[in-house]
Amino acid sequence: MEFITLNNGVQMPLLGYGVYQVTPDECERCVTDAINVGYRLIDTAQAYYNEEGLGNAIAKSSVPRDELFITTKVWVSNSGEEKAVASIDESLKKLQSDYIDLLLIHQPFGDYYGTYRAMEKAYKAGKVRAIGVSNFFPDRFVDLAENVEIKPAVNQMETHVFNQQMNTREVLTEYETTLESWGPFAEGKNDFFTNEVLKHIGEQYNKSVAQVALRFLVQQGIVAIPKSVRKERMAENLDVFDFVLSQDEIELIKALDQKESLFLSHTDPASVKFILEYDKTMRP
Ligand SMILES: NC(=O)c1ccc[n+]([C@@H]2O[C@H](COP(=O)([O-])OP(=O)(O)OC[C@H]3O[C@@H](n4cnc5c(N)ncnc54)[C@H](OP(=O)(O)O)[C@@H]3O)[C@@H](O)[C@H]2O)c1
Repeated sequence: MEFITLNNGVQMPLLGYGVYQVTPDECERCVTDAINVGYRLIDTAQAYYNEEGLGNAIAKSSVPRDELFITTKVWVSNSGEEKAVASIDESLKKLQSDYIDLLLIHQPFGDYYGTYRAMEKAYKAGKVRAIGVSNFFPDRFVDLAENVEIKPAVNQMETHVFNQQMNTREVLTEYETTLESWGPFAEGKNDFFTNEVLKHIGEQYNKSVAQVALRFLVQQGIVAIPKSVRKERMAENLDVFDFVLSQDEIELIKALDQKESLFLSHTDPASVKFILEYDKTMRP
């Protein structure tokens, strides 16, 4: 596994395993498989409702806690300093852990300044090793980063071959903030897994479309956290450190960029309302 050094000196694995849409019932099995296959970075969130499953897998694993890198995220319904403080303690309890490696604000809505203050406190108290944000587009990111004491270590954004976040990357560089990709396969949208450019490049190295797409990210220092419930795919997705894309291949993939989300617009009022109501409608 290769690592990236965050802006506070903490080492983070470049490739990890995400558990969005992994059901609470399946999460412990999936994370156990992922750890056994070799993943050390696991990405969850309060709004995935599966932190307990991850906690059980951590507790039962023979891999020492300090070799794992656990990320969770504070959801908008827990925004504001007081609620965020309580929710961080709740996450720690569910994760059966004394600390979280990386804690993110999940969405730039609600009282996220209050949330960030709670996260700075948790960081200073040693409950969290690094703090950051997710889905903070350049305008909101700069405003936050300019007004807080601890610069965000990470911004986790939708990033894949069809939405490469070039503008965001430029802004993050100024603050030495690491870009982390969510949806590295765009959840299969846009015929992702049969894309001819990725397929053709993969044939040169005997690699799959998924492996080329992940290699494209990690080779540029972007952390990726692909999700799969299938152990053989977990292993396939981790096996991307034994080949290097040429500059010409990188350029071919760069040309696939459509520069917009395949999921939702964070500036669309209906999407904002959906996110604000999510906990009420989606909690299992
Ligand atoms: N911060 C945020 O707002 C946010 C939003 C979304 C996601 N995330 C994080 O990012 C992680 C990854 O994103 P994601 O789960 O949305 O989507 P993704 O990783 O882009 O795609 C997952 C989909 O690809 C399939 N798949 C996985 N490996 C494959 C392979 N090698 N070949 C063919 N199909 C494959 C999976 O199916 P199977 O499971 O059936 O294999 C699943 O349907 C999440 O789990 C979560 O941790 C964060």
